[in-house]
Amino acid sequence: MAAAAAGALLAVPALVAVPSAPAVALEDNPFVGAEQYVNPDWSALVETAADEVGDAALAADMRAIADEPTSVWMDRIAAIEGTERQHGLEWHLDQAVAQSGGSPLVFNVVIYDLPGRDCHALASNGELPATAAGMTRYKTEYIDPIVALLDQPEYANLRVVATIEPDSLPNLVTNQSDADCVAAAPYYREGVQYAISELYEVGNVYSYIDAAHSGWLGWPNNSSGAAQEFANVIEGSTYGWAAVSGFVTNTANTTPLEETFLTNPDLQVGGGQVKSAGWFEWNPDFDEIDWTANLYDLMVAQGAPSSIGMLVDTGRNGWGGSARPTAASTSTDLNTYVNESKVDRRNHRGAWCNPAGAGIGERPTVAPSGHAESHLDAYVWVKPPGESDGSSTEIPNDEGKRLDRMCDPTYQSSELGGRFTGALADAPLSGHWFQAQFEMLVANAYPAIS
Ligand code: BGC
Repeated sequence: MAAAAAGALLAVPALVAVPSAPAVALEDNPFVGAEQYVNPDWSALVETAADEVGDAALAADMRAIADEPTSVWMDRIAAIEGTERQHGLEWHLDQAVAQSGGSPLVFNVVIYDLPGRDCHALASNGELPATAAGMTRYKTEYIDPIVALLDQPEYANLRVVATIEPDSLPNLVTNQSDADCVAAAPYYREGVQYAISELYEVGNVYSYIDAAHSGWLGWPNNSSGAAQEFANVIEGSTYGWAAVSGFVTNTANTTPLEETFLTNPDLQVGGGQVKSAGWFEWNPDFDEIDWTANLYDLMVAQGAPSSIGMLVDTGRNGWGGSARPTAASTSTDLNTYVNESKVDRRNHRGAWCNPAGAGIGERPTVAPSGHAESHLDAYVWVKPPGESDGSSTEIPNDEGKRLDRMCDPTYQSSELGGRFTGALADAPLSGHWFQAQFEMLVANAYPAIS
């Protein structure tokens, strides 16, 4: 149990509506003035990857990013204690304290185990069913033990930045034609409310709610629906907006930060607006800079404090390499113009699994400049580059992971307009190291690594 909650229990007067908040004031932007935790597990994977690679220049680029901060994923109950793939939370927190040397340090962690997780996909289906019993286990066997660890006094000086439940609330906005998402909806809402409230009581946790990416929520219907959903969940929780530092977009996705050569959705080319091209399907938010700026305004209009900030996962949205366009197209055919100008080389913006051609994006950056309207707290690497999004064929496992055809390169999906997925072949289970993908990501980094 968190300290503030225990204190509140002792001193509760008869008619107090809101439980007492933590004593320590949170920073406006926790990344400012702080180093970030470097996950030794990930660094070791990168060093091994570099050892295995024949190309000396590529190996050097890998080693050059081995000490970048990446998030620690609590992707199942067993991850708290530690699994064969990663150390447990207490070990990571102890390492973080050692790395901090007493100075401010951000510890990036992902909260990812809701009942009925990944309701519209299969690659990261979780261990907890979308039932009342699953909800109870989420609270008592997952959130409570995480909070109990974070609440230890030796971790009080860490700035814990929590990415809250990737894809969960966005699935409630756009995938309510999927029975699994309908069944999961009440548990997602209750689970997110429970998570942010319990984490807030720790006193040094900054929760950022996952807000998908521009290619998912950018359409006006979706963005307004998302803003309403986020606001309802946050405002219906114990501490309301006080428990939320902002939003994180593009988690584990490859949507570019900026479509450098496509900046005006209303520009007329060949008799149509750029946003009406097949690639954008009338979605006016072309990239994560657009989406964070749009989301900020929508959330403030919903009642969020103006102090909220945005994080963007830039671990894999670089799209560099020789195939990257260097100027806007001169074509007068709209679709040719967009296809030749865009930096995103997926087959479709909805292709999310191990996309071929992707690269490492911006290195983790504190308070990035140049995009004031996006209110960016940081670029972060939430999905550790090199970890798979899902297996390309069925692989038996005890992690609740299944074959999602979006990860199968031979599959043509109706959700991608009938196109092939563009996923890499021979992919291991989600979260497992995928050497070929890592080599591609480093080779296609943008900005280039060296
Ligand atoms: C997987 C997790 C993994 C995470 C980071 C998710 O897709 O389901 O098991 O920890 O990605 O790689």
